[in-house]
Amino acid sequence: TDLAAVPKLLHSLSKRFSRTLSPSLSGPPSLPLLGNMLDVAQEHLPIHLTSLARRYGNIYRLNCGNTTMVILNNSEIIREALIKKWSDFAGRPHSYTGDLVSSGGRTISLGDFSEEWKAHRRVAHSALLRCTRDSLHSVVEKQAHHLCQVLWDYNGKSVDLSEDFTVAASNVITTLTFGKSYDKSSVDLKKLQDSLNKIVSLWGSPWISVLDSFPLLRKLPNPPFSRLMKEIARRDELIGKHIEEFKKSDHKEGGTVTSSLLKSLEPPQGGTLTDTHVHMTTVDLLIGGTETTSALLNWTVAFLLHRPEVQNKVYEELCGVLDVRYPQYSDRHRLPYLCALINEMLRLRPVAPLAVPHRAIRNSSIAGHFIPKNTIIIPNLYGAHHDPEVWDDPYSFKPERFLEGGGGSLRALIPFGGGARLCLGEAVAKMEMFLFTAYLLRDFQFLPASKEEPLPDLRGVASVVLKVKPYTVIAHPREQ
Ligand code: HEM
Repeated sequence: TDLAAVPKLLHSLSKRFSRTLSPSLSGPPSLPLLGNMLDVAQEHLPIHLTSLARRYGNIYRLNCGNTTMVILNNSEIIREALIKKWSDFAGRPHSYTGDLVSSGGRTISLGDFSEEWKAHRRVAHSALLRCTRDSLHSVVEKQAHHLCQVLWDYNGKSVDLSEDFTVAASNVITTLTFGKSYDKSSVDLKKLQDSLNKIVSLWGSPWISVLDSFPLLRKLPNPPFSRLMKEIARRDELIGKHIEEFKKSDHKEGGTVTSSLLKSLEPPQGGTLTDTHVHMTTVDLLIGGTETTSALLNWTVAFLLHRPEVQNKVYEELCGVLDVRYPQYSDRHRLPYLCALINEMLRLRPVAPLAVPHRAIRNSSIAGHFIPKNTIIIPNLYGAHHDPEVWDDPYSFKPERFLEGGGGSLRALIPFGGGARLCLGEAVAKMEMFLFTAYLLRDFQFLPASKEEPLPDLRGVASVVLKVKPYTVIAHPREQ
């Protein structure tokens, strides 16, 4: 029996050794009480975290209250944590307010790694895959045509297109989930978008996040917190109404994500998941799939205003390959410059710049550093995409880098994260980006609103989603 214990003993000794031998993580000085709160409160957090990486290395730590966060700033290190060691880092941090927003962690995006979460993600993933295979192309095509129609109707007026992009992206999701799309003027759509946006922005406000670290403050009156609770109730009422209407509609038989999810609640599959999971999947898809895609379209037009020759190159490629026909997703291999433009946008402006925080669910290591259980891991995708060791001239907009021989590294491009928490909508987003961008650049030349106004500011505003500051543009129809 003593001999049998030797391997266990050796294992625990080697673990202890590797822990003490691993170099400790450096990071910016941590203030008494505040820790690195001031670093975390910086206005453009992804840029700030990237500048800290130049000083403290591609992996460093920040302290917030009694939580240690480890920031990963290069794609190899991010891949090690998210893909190679996915089972060590697939957790999400728990928080008081996160639980309220996610109905006790029953969303895919905020739910912690558990048997219930795995069943939820598996069912939603296969429902989404089925839609992607069967109907996504026609759903996106329809929205792309509709978007072009809306732009034609502007008749060359200078306009802010962000709401039109949001409606197009949101209609893709509502068609996939409920088989329904909405007009820009629809009250139902406005109410839903308004409620989801308010929740995301209130949840990110310091008045709310302070409640996670200081439980005593939860007893005091807090108007932003009351507003958050009211919005959560409004969201749940609106989504609940949509699901009830859906159950009574013709679509309930199949073909949508919601019908597949509802089926998974029935025997023999049923058991782990409940109506709340179906409800919260809609929230996940609407939040994950609307502002992201729409922000990326907004960024693309903003960059193209600065570099008109790039939009002309895409237009010439489209005309050369397709003549007058509208593109299909299967044409992408024949349109390398368009694909290079989309990749360059995903690199320069990863719209989820810090992904979603991960949590170490056991003791592990990253890049040789010991990482204790419960450490929060922040994958700085923005930093990885601006790493001078990987990208030549990383801050320049150069779609050519993704053409053959251009030196761009598809392996280092990780805008959707990876591993167990890979973006659930990656396939949807890629098809949307391709078709929307191709349709827009086939039909329009984007021109600055006027000679007097400055071109869009390309620095952006970073919260959960990295967005460009509002700007106006003229969509000038191309002669076909
Ligand atoms: C998660 C990026 C569009 C649904 C994520 C994450 C990233 C990301 C970086 C976090 C991964 C991590 O935690 O490591 C993007 C980008 C998009 C996009 C760049 C568009 C350009 C979409 C769309 C949908 C969607 C269209 C829905 C159809 C989700 C969901 C999660 C997620 C549900 C949570 C996954 C989980 O926690 O397991 N996305 N996303 N996203 N995304 Fe996306």
